[in-house]
Amino acid sequence: MRPDSLAVTQSLHEHETVELATDSIHLWFAFPHEITDPDLLARYAQWLSAEELAQQQRFYFAKHRHQYLITRALVRSTLSCYADVAPGDWRFSRNAYGKPEIMPGLTDMPIRFNLSHTDGLVVCAVVLQHDLGVDVEFRERASAAVNIAEHYFSAPEVEALYQLPYSEQKNRFFDYWTLKEAYIKAKGMGLSLPLDQFSFHLADNRPPVISFDDRLTDHPQHWQFWRIRPSEQHVAAVAVNAPTSRIFQMAIKKVVPLVGTTVFACEFL
Ligand SMILES: CC(C)(COP(=O)(O)OP(=O)(O)OC[C@H]1O[C@@H](n2cnc3c(N)ncnc32)[C@H](O)[C@@H]1OP(=O)(O)O)[C@@H](O)C(=O)NCCC(=O)NCCS
Repeated sequence: MRPDSLAVTQSLHEHETVELATDSIHLWFAFPHEITDPDLLARYAQWLSAEELAQQQRFYFAKHRHQYLITRALVRSTLSCYADVAPGDWRFSRNAYGKPEIMPGLTDMPIRFNLSHTDGLVVCAVVLQHDLGVDVEFRERASAAVNIAEHYFSAPEVEALYQLPYSEQKNRFFDYWTLKEAYIKAKGMGLSLPLDQFSFHLADNRPPVISFDDRLTDHPQHWQFWRIRPSEQHVAAVAVNAPTSRIFQMAIKKVVPLVGTTVFACEFL
């Protein structure tokens, strides 16, 4: 499956609506370093709750405060495309492991979303009803990738990693990493799910397949995954708790909240 592109260059959310079909997944990417206009940033800040503003101020580095603001602006403006709720009016609850969801009662639409942020990139994934997880990572980050894999990945994944030429191991490491994160984020249980008790099986031009060892109760046929290259430096993965027989359309946009959206042609592996 290849992504469709949504409309090009349109103002985001102010009286604009985007339709979210039952079998669609929308990915909205924002590049924080490209969003610097002080007036725009001030408008985003007006959307934040008191709690979010306090959280933003707790970051020591300006870069992290900026990324936090862009993340909040992205999720709030994105959700407002789908439902008649102003960006500043969204309220969120978190489960025991920290997964945010829309506060019940704000909209009748069963919108589910998940966020991920890393150096230089923020993504908000949206779907109706299904549990959803997204992860994006900055590829340059880990130097001792294979050592990390030995500690956290499953035995079949470590073995598959070692069988690759050294030059391919880093990319494959980040594919596993983002897929594992996307899965545990879709489950909403964070690192309470043991990362070595499930495995991904990857082949070119085929969707990733998951398997579970006997200690974990779950079913491969209940999950769909995608691995994506949003930029040269970034690796991303999406997980949806839906039968493998179900066909999803994925639409991807790059967005500057309140300014516009552009087609974003990500590479799918
Ligand atoms: C918190 C966790 C869910 C994701 O952390 P992360 O990958 O560092 O961060 P991401 O940017 O991808 O995701 C963070 C966002 O996910 C959401 N989130 C938080 N807890 C979540 C949970 N339990 N389930 C799903 N989403 C969650 C939040 O929106 C959060 O952003 P916010 O706090 O700004 O709202 C968790 O998996 C974690 O702590 N991971 C540590 C990284 C690690 O060791 N990975 C090993 C991979 S092999």
